Amino acid sequence: MKKDLFALKGTICYSKNQKELVFHEDSYVVCENGLCAGVFSQLPDEYKSIPVEDMGDRLIIPGFTDLHLHAPQYAYRGTGMDLELLDWLNTITFPQEARYADLDYAKKAYSIFVDDLKHSFTTRACIFATLHRPATELLMDMLEESGLATMVGKVNMDRNGAPELQEESAQASAQDTRQWLEEIKGRYCHTYPILTPRFTPSCTDELMTELGKIQREYHIPVQSHLSENFGEIAWVKDLCPTSRFYGDAYDMFGLFGGACPTIMAHCVHSTDEEIQMIKDQGVYIAHCPESNTDIASGIAPIRRYLDLGLHVGLGTDVAGGFSLSMFRAIADTIQVSKLRWRLMDQSQAPVTLEEAFYMATIGGGSFFGKAGSFEKGYEFDALILDDAGIRHPQEISTRDRLERLVYLSDDRNLVGKYVQGRKVI
Ligand code: GUN
Ligand code: FE
Repeated sequence: MKKDLFALKGTICYSKNQKELVFHEDSYVVCENGLCAGVFSQLPDEYKSIPVEDMGDRLIIPGFTDLHLHAPQYAYRGTGMDLELLDWLNTITFPQEARYADLDYAKKAYSIFVDDLKHSFTTRACIFATLHRPATELLMDMLEESGLATMVGKVNMDRNGAPELQEESAQASAQDTRQWLEEIKGRYCHTYPILTPRFTPSCTDELMTELGKIQREYHIPVQSHLSENFGEIAWVKDLCPTSRFYGDAYDMFGLFGGACPTIMAHCVHSTDEEIQMIKDQGVYIAHCPESNTDIASGIAPIRRYLDLGLHVGLGTDVAGGFSLSMFRAIADTIQVSKLRWRLMDQSQAPVTLEEAFYMATIGGGSFFGKAGSFEKGYEFDALILDDAGIRHPQEISTRDRLERLVYLSDDRNLVGKYVQGRKVI
């Protein structure tokens, strides 16, 4: 069988571990059948004749995984940010998401979203669609075409929505979810379904029970929201009086890690018990600092989560967050951790560049398997970054170049992108 084999040459940078970045100037990263075959300062004999794309001194880094965002909300990003979560959902988000019942509108909106995501620093993403099955399938078709690797969820919500944005019953929601999963079976190579109960206030116990059954039947992962906002947490206590804490209200239905790979966005105000269950059951946390700032949810204790060895990735949470940029998510992670340290808890040191970069690459990427590194055997996701426009008169280190991209980059700095060995741009 003919091998798909090539190398990129440039200044290669990736995480060795959570605390250390490695830099290889004038080096080669080899892609073999979609997987990384290693990083070399000289090409070994077996690769001597493979095609090499020489990027000069441009930076080559692993792709970023956006572990949490809402595709339908991209249309109104950067507006309506004077509200807290529950008011923001009711007055802005639900009416906007209702528009995706109209496939023509969905097509217009999702074309813009997918095009911008394709040209962003994101190579992989875990995405909420809306409760509408046809529009969700349309979004999945477009994402497949984009070349990105994504998990996409048809949202479930059978209570506390809006008249125009709520499913008729738990049974109708479950049945529609099954139909969605059947319709997309075998349709995509790198677009995967993920079960998506919006959050506990949106889903009755009956619906959660059905989703637990669907999860065990189809063996697909789950994504939702957890402990984002004080009003939300108090509401969950009322709605689920038998749950011991918010996360328990998912666990009661088998939707909280263990045999059910799970991403929970936010975890800003998780209790000790909840954090323990997140750890014990391997739940992934999607840290979304921009959103947590915009809708004033708070600052998640990421230092504590890292020290406990929890799985933490970064999310933009568009449109709670306004930017698709994962470099910006890294910058925000570092910045809010400094505020938390200064204002809330001086025993919790700020997050470093190394740690935030790790979260944006391997931290979230590992939810997909081996993604987010150039170590041998990882899926070949790469960004090629041209920082020549960020001018400076003095010599600077490669680490400084990377740090500047965190704070100063925009899409113009992205000049190439590979996902699973596919050239996307
Ligand atoms: N909780 C339930 N739905 C949402 C949403 O759309 N965005 C955010 N940030 N939190 C939520
Ligand atoms: Fe969200």
